[in-house]
Amino acid sequence: MSSRRKIILKELGLLPLWRIKSENLQNTIVSADSSRQEDQCEKRPASDISNNTRRQQILHMDWDQLKAEVAHCTACALSQSRTQAVFGIGDENADWLCVGEGPGAREDVTGEPFVGPAGKLLDNMLSAIGLQRGNNVYIANIVKCRPPNNRNPEVHETMQCEPFLARQIELIKPKIIIALGKIAAQNLVKCDDKISNLRGTLHHYSGIPLIVTYHPAYLLRALPDKAKAWEDLLFAKDIMRSIK
Ligand code: URA
Repeated sequence: MSSRRKIILKELGLLPLWRIKSENLQNTIVSADSSRQEDQCEKRPASDISNNTRRQQILHMDWDQLKAEVAHCTACALSQSRTQAVFGIGDENADWLCVGEGPGAREDVTGEPFVGPAGKLLDNMLSAIGLQRGNNVYIANIVKCRPPNNRNPEVHETMQCEPFLARQIELIKPKIIIALGKIAAQNLVKCDDKISNLRGTLHHYSGIPLIVTYHPAYLLRALPDKAKAWEDLLFAKDIMRSIK
């Protein structure tokens, strides 16, 4: 292991577990085809996704139109309490797309997703697999405006915002999507399973491989699960290697 990777893994609190987990993972990946289940969760009914004129218009927008539409969106009540919408950031031709839940207080002020401690951990997680924010990586959220008091976004809010992320994904054409946390996972996989059931499985979003891991803000509070997140990242890397 390179010393840089050692430093990063140490910072993530993963180093003592690295060898064991790596061996476990090798075993899992060697038998990936048989042991990693394909996505078997019960999908939300299609009616959950609004298929209206607004959605169709958004799905035809270019980047500039989409950014302007998001910035001025008033489709749900979150627009009334936001400082600004947080569109997303990074390489618009990225192979890797990370999707979080929605902006928090800092993101609402700065306009950039994942700033603050959870963002630093996300940067470290990316770094641990040789990636960097902005370089072949794009970071976006399920909802573009901050839910008050950092509550979970409500269903009608995620539904109004859904076409924006759908269009971002169409424009970016990532090779892999990483859903960060329960809200991102459930909305992208379109299924209401627990995150512990959704991770460790290869899902797809419009044919794009999608894997689920824990939200960095959760990982800051749940150190033991960092090792599972590390497994998820290695799983994602393995998937990426197999499709390159
Ligand atoms: N949490 C998220 O899910 N997204 C952000 O942008 C910040 C914190």
